[in-house]
Amino acid sequence: MDTFAIGDQDFLLNDEPFRVLSGAIHYFRVHPDLWADRIHKARLMGLNTIETYVPWNEHAPVPGSFHTDDGLDLGRFLDLVAAEGMRAIVRPGPYICAEWDNGGLPAWLFSDPTVGVRSSEPGYLAAVSSYLEAVLAVVVPRQITHGGPVILLQIENEYGAFGKDKEYLQHLVDLSKRSGVDVPLFTCDQPFGTMIEDGSLPELHKTGTFGSRAEERLAFLRERQPTGPLMCAEFWNGWFDNWGTHHHTTGAAASAAELDALLTAGASVNIYMFHGGTNFGFTNGANDKGIYEPTITSYDYDAPLSEDGHPTAKYFAFRDVIAKHFPVPEEVPSERVPLPTSVVTVSESVHLLSAAVAASQVPGPIPPVEVTGRYRGFSLYQTSLETGGILSFSEVRDRAQFFLDGFPLGTLSRELGERTIAVPAGGRLQILLEDQGRVNYGQRIGESKGLMGPALLNGVEVLDWEIGSVDLDSLAAFREAATGLPVGGTTAGVAGPSVSFATFEADGPGDRFLRLDGWTKGNAFINGFNLGRYWSRGPQRTLYVPGPLIREGANELAILELHGSATREASFAVGPDLGPDEK
Ligand code: GLA
Repeated sequence: MDTFAIGDQDFLLNDEPFRVLSGAIHYFRVHPDLWADRIHKARLMGLNTIETYVPWNEHAPVPGSFHTDDGLDLGRFLDLVAAEGMRAIVRPGPYICAEWDNGGLPAWLFSDPTVGVRSSEPGYLAAVSSYLEAVLAVVVPRQITHGGPVILLQIENEYGAFGKDKEYLQHLVDLSKRSGVDVPLFTCDQPFGTMIEDGSLPELHKTGTFGSRAEERLAFLRERQPTGPLMCAEFWNGWFDNWGTHHHTTGAAASAAELDALLTAGASVNIYMFHGGTNFGFTNGANDKGIYEPTITSYDYDAPLSEDGHPTAKYFAFRDVIAKHFPVPEEVPSERVPLPTSVVTVSESVHLLSAAVAASQVPGPIPPVEVTGRYRGFSLYQTSLETGGILSFSEVRDRAQFFLDGFPLGTLSRELGERTIAVPAGGRLQILLEDQGRVNYGQRIGESKGLMGPALLNGVEVLDWEIGSVDLDSLAAFREAATGLPVGGTTAGVAGPSVSFATFEADGPGDRFLRLDGWTKGNAFINGFNLGRYWSRGPQRTLYVPGPLIREGANELAILELHGSATREASFAVGPDLGPDEK
């Protein structure tokens, strides 16, 4: 039986010192047909381990579920890591941060306001237990002690930045052990203040998360972890972007120098991210440190391997650094070649508000969107007002478009702190509400979405709203209801909110980058797969279309446009455009 342990100075693989050279790949951000390719390219850079989080809310979209099919087949992902001859680190949360919707916590859990968040509150712990038992049933038989690739398991995630409930951490440890975890358990925290101590327990191996000043951070960590291997569990070699910011990049040479410092100091490392992937659909998280800032669709992260799986300058700089310390395979992955470009024109469209959205009336104050039983994307609130006036809410989470008898009145945005709109006259009021992504860091994780009450019209509460969610899992109803666009050139555009359709021919599978110049805001779909959100605000200008989504012959592009487009065309670009960086 193989073993993995924490020695006095090193990690020990079968009693021999072992340096963990890990790279993060989140299987849930990569098309499953591309997992093997990305893992292989990690080994070619000189890495020996792959690290992944596990997103609870993705595996359990509704209470009582635990999906492990297709893109959620964690077992298959770990088996591919093993097949590449690599080791694996699993970080099952239950909280994962990761710029992922709600930091991975399922929104349904907090429909009961008595349920605690990341604490030893019994209702929370009960849900966590059944989740972890399901994940560990996949992970335990894949531990190195059972002939599998898994060498380490993380408890919680940077918990010291959130709380210090040791009973909660102890519960996670006990449960893991009871479920059969016998590889070392560890915690990771930022090397500041008391976070490392607060986020851990004496029996757990402590590691740090940082992207610069390696010697100083390792020294800080060493004071709190006096023996055993030093590890940077998240070496931030890039960063994520929020809508409306520039595209964050870090220089390849500067990042490589930091990696060199880590390896020279004898530390183990997990490169966060080795390959970032994509926040497909509605999976992106958001930050809120007083101002709400949703994360963009691309999670390229300026990582060594780009969003579409090609080596960057940083990849080669890291490979050179690793080669100074350890043997690196000779094979080198191929760089991106320009992709075939084409223009696609939408020909049919259906107005979103006239399409069927099953709504039901909720008696009493305006409810959060969770009452619909769907926890992501768009919802529709409706009511009839006898008069116009000033309509206000306590908060808009996160973006609401108002329509009176079908005519657009305006938009309220949480990012701008808006919560009041003038309604000119009485009539049928419809509010299309976008959940732009649940906060994944800090004290606002777990909060509900929608229009927060009281809803006041001229100071008087409006009750008994109808609410329904916009089902985009299948576009069939929209496709059926779509009709030909009125005659006009391509610049006649399309009015939103609507779903428009185009077909295009392809020779077969192959990566694309969809460019939506002239469109304003919404989501795009290829053959029904939700590529994620686009927004003229930027920074990102293109959406990644993973090759396996495209088929030989006819393909469908669908565009959910919220406002309006100045064109009926979309295009496939030669490569990614993630927007201007700071330089
Ligand atoms: C922290 C978290 C990660 C991620 C990074 C930023 O280190 O642990 O999940 O959110 O920040 O990308």
